[in-house]
Amino acid sequence: MSDQIYDVFKFLHVVGVVVLVGNVTITAFWKAFSDMTRDPRIVAHAQRGVTVSDFIFTAVGIVLVMVGGYGAAIHKGIPLFSSFWLVSGQLLFAVSGMMWLGILIPLQIRQARAARGFADGSPIPDSYWRDAKRWLVWGIVATVPLVAAIFVMVVKI
Ligand code: HEM
Repeated sequence: MSDQIYDVFKFLHVVGVVVLVGNVTITAFWKAFSDMTRDPRIVAHAQRGVTVSDFIFTAVGIVLVMVGGYGAAIHKGIPLFSSFWLVSGQLLFAVSGMMWLGILIPLQIRQARAARGFADGSPIPDSYWRDAKRWLVWGIVATVPLVAAIFVMVVKI
């Protein structure tokens, strides 16, 4: 029999996954694409876009993944720590979150601060390019656990 409350939680969960993973990947693409122009005004504008899109989409995505995921599991009485898919899904989410909090957010704050300095068209310092490269590499690394989480959640091993 269908359980509509469960379906609503699962729907919110999957929308959250789409918004979160969609935002982190496409934001990185547009930032790298804008950085390639090496034009300080364009680079600074894209950097502001990264900050704003994180506040809107990454934050909303995280909330929906958690409310929908835990809501669905608790509503249906699925034990949080006995199946491989649910334990590894939570772990992968936490690992990615820690990379974001510990590495990516600090790099983003540094780049945003630098970008405010060259938004008027003044030269971009070398330190900005170093941070931009690190941010891209760590951004890709931190997305891998999220993609792996999609896999374990769908396959439910
Ligand atoms: C944070 C802890 C998480 C919890 C408590 C959780 C919980 C759940 C639950 C209860 C379901 C429904 C399973 C079913 O109806 O059989 C589900 C499905 C799903 N989850 Fe998660 N999840 C979490 C994290 C994640 C993450 C990080 C991702 C991916 C980035 C993800 C992706 C999915 C997907 C794609 C589905 C649909 C799979 C399907 O029904 O075939 N989940 N999750």
